Amino acid sequence: MRYNQRMRILGIESSADDSGVALIEASGTFGSDFRFTVTANEVASQQHAEYGGIYPNLAKNEHIKNLPLLLEKVLPSDEQPDIIAVTVGPGIEPCLWTGITFAQKLAAKWDIPVVGVNHLEGHIVMSMMEGEKLAPLELPVLSLLISGGNTQLVLSKEALRYEIIGKTRDDAAGEAFDKVGRMLGLPYPSGAEISRLAAEARRENLAADFKLPRPMLSEDNFEFSFSGLKTAALRIIEKETVTDELKKKISRELEEAIADVLVGKTLLAVEEYGVSTVVTGGGVAANTFIRQRLAEALAKSGAKLLVCPPALSTDNALMIALAGYFHALKKEFTEPDTLTAQGNLRLDA
Ligand code: KG4
Repeated sequence: MRYNQRMRILGIESSADDSGVALIEASGTFGSDFRFTVTANEVASQQHAEYGGIYPNLAKNEHIKNLPLLLEKVLPSDEQPDIIAVTVGPGIEPCLWTGITFAQKLAAKWDIPVVGVNHLEGHIVMSMMEGEKLAPLELPVLSLLISGGNTQLVLSKEALRYEIIGKTRDDAAGEAFDKVGRMLGLPYPSGAEISRLAAEARRENLAADFKLPRPMLSEDNFEFSFSGLKTAALRIIEKETVTDELKKKISRELEEAIADVLVGKTLLAVEEYGVSTVVTGGGVAANTFIRQRLAEALAKSGAKLLVCPPALSTDNALMIALAGYFHALKKEFTEPDTLTAQGNLRLDA
């Protein structure tokens, strides 16, 4: 196999509570000649709503059950891909191991190489796509990663190289949504529901008579801290009866506080590093309000925002296949036996 030709990549994702298997065909380099088509992209999302969070062992067992079923849907016949791309981190290690073990077995069966992929790079690369091509990018690219486990600002002075310029000191943006959601008795994960309630509050002109903090917004750095938001929300909830109206008010104020901080810090980094292309990805990037606020603010400062469709912002294996392809081009394969789950894998590792 020559890796500069059309390649069929099987992507496997199991870092948290979504199991994903995808098959793509890709060709070209990381540039204007890159093209891909999606043959299949299957995700099975687990139901952790009743537990208000992810239970690693439960999630692991679900992945063990889901991955073979998804593979059957993605590759119904005996055809085989050219390479396998599997998430090796960051994430929940028992969950990551299920995907890795699955990839190892398939690689042995088909005798094909494996690329270990950083889940966060998957989110970034996914948002860089425009249809079945790579969107035009100008270096340095700034990536705002906002998910349930991570909130980071990352600078790429070269393609597919990452320097973390700031991250959260405690909770991730998604965690703030989920933890406040739990206090309000909303299902887990709560981001989408809070966003829906916030939109209702705006439509009904329901403004809060309290203010949540905008943590670290006035500090001249790229660090985040979201844990204070849940404490502040708790103080309000403890004083008042949690009516539907209060839920909407808190949702609106929470979404606006998080948006203010994300937009403010992103603009600061855009100015500091002279950035004209900003990429955002991760589950929270599915939030319509945050996307709009970011796009508007960046447009004013002359930068362009790249973001993928909301359905592809949350965890999926298509993004893993895409990132894996670019590493396969550089022949960055890992001996299947030496693949290891790295719960805290960094983008600059
Ligand atoms: O990237 P993701 O699917 O999983 C990882 O954390 O890796 O992100 C999940 C997070 C959850 O915290 C969820 O509440 C949040 O993304 N989320 C949203 C929305 N959709 C998902 N947060 C805000 N608004 C949304 N529409």
